[in-house]
Amino acid sequence: MPRPRIMSGMRPTGRLHLGNYLGALENWVRLQDEYECFFCIVDWHALTTGYEDTSEVRGNIREMAIDWLSAGLDPEKSTFYVQSRVKEVAELHLLLSMVTPVSWLERVPTYKDQLQQLAGKDINTYGFLGYPLLQTADIIIFKANFVPVGEDQLPHLELAREVVRRFNGFYGPVFPEPLAKLNQVTMLPGIDGRKMSKSYGNDIVMAATAEEIRSRVDLMITDPARIRKYDPGHPEVCTVHSFHSTFSRDELPQIEADCRAGRIGCVECKRNLARRLQAAMAPLQERRRHYEGRPGRVDEILAAGSEQARRVAATTMAEVREAMKI
Ligand code: TRP
Ligand code: SF4
Repeated sequence: MPRPRIMSGMRPTGRLHLGNYLGALENWVRLQDEYECFFCIVDWHALTTGYEDTSEVRGNIREMAIDWLSAGLDPEKSTFYVQSRVKEVAELHLLLSMVTPVSWLERVPTYKDQLQQLAGKDINTYGFLGYPLLQTADIIIFKANFVPVGEDQLPHLELAREVVRRFNGFYGPVFPEPLAKLNQVTMLPGIDGRKMSKSYGNDIVMAATAEEIRSRVDLMITDPARIRKYDPGHPEVCTVHSFHSTFSRDELPQIEADCRAGRIGCVECKRNLARRLQAAMAPLQERRRHYEGRPGRVDEILAAGSEQARRVAATTMAEVREAMKI
């Protein structure tokens, strides 16, 4: 029995942080044993909002590959590749564009949202409107059954299914309808208590060294009502506590009780968290060092993965051309 297929992707827009790790990568790592996985660094998608300055794209691809490898994505188990190296995806995107009504793309909720949110950028482009259709091509070219994504991507998956139904209706059943597989979410705020995001400057990058982890933890916002060390605290409003609930589960009741009773100071509590985080990240750091010392190996992994992805994509495209009689 062939394993069901998984496909997912990320835009190479810079260093990944712990929110990306816990929110997505950790899920992907778990899926590798059960599914046949295709994970894509979607560099064409990075151009939809950042087309003027492309100077960092190549560097970001390599960096993202190292972030993935450090998280435990394993090239022996999964195929990871670079979108722009699989030209068949562009061909499929073009063919899908022939059958996709513009109104379907205009009513994808992320489209109008993003136009508003990124009002400073000129993204009234053809490519930006077509973003979810390119994503559809990414997914269905592998006949993926499941797509591990966050909730924000559900409208894109909905579009992908609609496009598949329309295509199959015209030309026969070539593609399965892909289903979203929602990532298990771990609520991890940024160091200021808001959602962790690179654009807020409140993130902890996956590449952080032990020393950097310590200094980021030092900056975390604690319970503002605690002025003196032995004031009773309120862990539920404290960012350090949110992190403890992910990284110090076994010790959590003790930490909460000590905080409420004013038995520990925030400095000590942070030192404890820094140690926990450093320990949790140590295996990732070790893998990172391994690959950072072997840049040629990283390039080889991406080249081999892209070649493998191309073979599968080429098979699908032969079927597509046959179904469409072109
Ligand atoms: N749109 C996705 C995001 O912003 C990235 C992406 C591109 C993707 N192609 C994909 C995700 C294919 C899943 C499958 O997160
Ligand atoms: Fe937060 Fe810990 Fe200070 Fe309590 S003791 S407020 S949990 S840092």
